[in-house]
Amino acid sequence: MAQPLTIEDLRILAKRRVPRMFYDYADSGAWTEGTYRANETDFTGIKLRQRVAVDMTNRTLASTMVGQPVAMPVALAPTGLTGMQHADGEILAARAASKAGVPFTLSTMSICSLEDIANHVGKPFWFQLYVMKDRDFIARLIQRAKGAGVTALVLTLDLQILGQRHKDIRNGLSAPPKPTIANLINLATKPRWCLGMLDTPRRSFGNIVGHAKGVGDLSSLSSWTAEQFDPALSWDDVKWIKDLWGGKLILKGILDPEDAEMAAKSGADALIVSNHGGRQLDGALSSIAALPAIVEQVGGRMEILFDGGIRSGQDVIKALALGAHGTFIGRAFLYGLGAMGEEGVTRCLDIIRKELDITMALCGLRDVRDVDGRILVGGKG
Ligand SMILES: Cc1cc2nc3c(=O)[nH]c(=O)nc-3n(C[C@H](O)[C@H](O)[C@H](O)COP(=O)(O)O)c2cc1C
Repeated sequence: MAQPLTIEDLRILAKRRVPRMFYDYADSGAWTEGTYRANETDFTGIKLRQRVAVDMTNRTLASTMVGQPVAMPVALAPTGLTGMQHADGEILAARAASKAGVPFTLSTMSICSLEDIANHVGKPFWFQLYVMKDRDFIARLIQRAKGAGVTALVLTLDLQILGQRHKDIRNGLSAPPKPTIANLINLATKPRWCLGMLDTPRRSFGNIVGHAKGVGDLSSLSSWTAEQFDPALSWDDVKWIKDLWGGKLILKGILDPEDAEMAAKSGADALIVSNHGGRQLDGALSSIAALPAIVEQVGGRMEILFDGGIRSGQDVIKALALGAHGTFIGRAFLYGLGAMGEEGVTRCLDIIRKELDITMALCGLRDVRDVDGRILVGGKG
């Protein structure tokens, strides 16, 4: 492919370059993948109003997310194992985000650690926290996030219990991959990926290995992580973490207005309307279908952020029109990373920026902060 022009182009390239196990890990959803697909397809039914003969000069996409300036209202979502899409993936993605002026969110389940990002990127970033049963580990992780200069904590609430993705089970997903015959045959067809991996020491969960009690090697790590997600997680834990952290707090994984109400009462700064990219409750609403009711419930009281199914700048503007203040992208940037490393993430952000800008202009607006329901057919201001 001469020049990737769309996120779909990046996906096709990533599929060629990333070992099947890790490509599938990104491009999959829970069970039937119905909610995963609906996240993308539900955007297509939302129609934009084309406007003409309005001044479209001097446009701006600059905005804020949790009070922090952003070059456009699009952040990189936390994604586990990003350093397996490409060697040192989290460092490369964080660099691309910082050059583009948008937030990067490091996952708890990242390959590069909090300290790796702080040392190799040098710009503030966000950190996503899973609540593990080992509360000492969580408390230390929060301290490490503070030490690494993290400026917002994203607390994920929709993964107390792991959803099941059939592809990961069939592929025997692990980091690094186990040397089975099927894996070795597949890896032999991905020389660029293999060379990158041979060149980096970062091949396992950087925030956990050497930090959690009793996790010294890979086999102890996989049993530790499988058991650590806490099914007993409650709103009291949210309060405990809020007090311990003391900074900007974003609650991720809210899909229901009643939970949004609890989120607003918790005093968090923002929530992310999200179904974990269709990776948890298959059969749940798509994120974009869930957004309006949550905006109606708590919109005036906390910042509403959004993720799920964004594959273009047009998807971003539709989420903003339905009341989101900012958005996150997951797979879109992972495909860029798998396809072309840092340059691919930059390309992904360029594609989305350009599509967002042109779409906003053709809808008759010059400032992304003015986007509201009036740009939608049948929408309200
Ligand atoms: C490969 C992959 C790994 C993910 N890992 C995490 C994670 O570690 N923590 C988290 O809160 N969300 C995780 N998510 C969910 C994303 O943060 C985000 O909600 C989702 O990707 C948004 O949907 P999109 O991929 O369609 O943009 C992951 C998503 C993907 C695709």
